Amino acid sequence: MELTITGFFGSNSSLLITGVLVPLATGVVWALYWYHLCPSDRRRSVVVKTQQTLRRYVLFESTHGKPESVLQAFKEYARRDRAIKELLFTEEQECFLKKAAKQRYPKTTLLLGTQCGFSAICLLQLLPADVILYAVEQDESMAESAEEMILVAGFKNNRFRLLCQHPVDAVHILKSQFGVKKVDFVLMDYRYDQQIEDLLALAKLDILNIGTLILINNTKHPMSKGFIENIGGAEGYRIVDSCKGLLKVEYVQSQ
Ligand SMILES: C[S@@+](CC[C@H](N)C(=O)[O-])C[C@H]1O[C@@H](n2cnc3c(N)ncnc32)[C@H](O)[C@@H]1O
Repeated sequence: MELTITGFFGSNSSLLITGVLVPLATGVVWALYWYHLCPSDRRRSVVVKTQQTLRRYVLFESTHGKPESVLQAFKEYARRDRAIKELLFTEEQECFLKKAAKQRYPKTTLLLGTQCGFSAICLLQLLPADVILYAVEQDESMAESAEEMILVAGFKNNRFRLLCQHPVDAVHILKSQFGVKKVDFVLMDYRYDQQIEDLLALAKLDILNIGTLILINNTKHPMSKGFIENIGGAEGYRIVDSCKGLLKVEYVQSQ
C-alpha cells in the first residue's frame, strides 16, 4: 500500500505543509546560514546596527532617570524585533531573578554578558543602594551603549562599574584594582558553549564564596545538550532550580 502525505494526514496535509513544515524548514535554513555560513563581521555589523537602533529608541521613548520606564522601552522595542526579544528576560525569568537576589541579598554582584544593559538595570533595581554591580561586556561598542543605558535609567556611576574585558581578565581587575575578594551573586548571560569554561574559571580564580548564587542563562538552547550534566558533575557546584533556561546554581565548596 502506498502511503502519501495526503493519505496519511488527510485534508489537513496542506495546512501541515504550509503551517508547520515550511516555517520549520525556513528556520533551520536561516539558523544554518546565520551561525555557520554568514561571515562573522557581517553578523557583528547586523548586531551592532540593531543595538544602535534599540539605543536610540530607548533614549527617545523613555523617561530618563526612571529605571521602570527604561525597561519598559526595551520591552516595547522587543515587540517589533525578535533578535532583541530573545535577549531580554521573560516576565517569569525576571521574577526568578528577583527571588534569587532576595534569597541571597548579595553584597557584591557580577554580571557577565551585559550587551544592551537590560539585565544590568534589572539587577541595579534589586540591589541595595550601597552594593556595586560589576558588569562585564567583551564588546566595546556594546559596553559603551550599555553604560549609557544604565546612566539613562538613573543609576549614577558610583553604583556600577562596566568592564570591557573577558571574564577572567575582569576578575583579575576586580581583585587588583577594586579590592574585591569574593562575589556572592553572579549572572552569566551569553553563549551556552562559552559559559561552562568561564564558570569553572571563577572557582579557580577564588572569587566565589561558599553559598554564592550563580544564575546561568541560555541553558535550554537546543545546542546546549550536556551543559546541565557538566555543571551537575562539576565538583563544588549544586544545581538548585531553573526557569526557562535560566539555571540557578549554588557554589558549595571552596577549592
Ligand atoms: C545574550 S547577550 C547579553 C544580554 C544582556 N544580559 C542584556 O540583558 O542585555 C550576550 C552578550 O555577552 C557578550 N559576551 C560574549 N561572551 C562573553 C564573555 N565570555 N564574557 C562577557 N561577555 C561576553 C556578548 O558580546 C553579548 O553582548
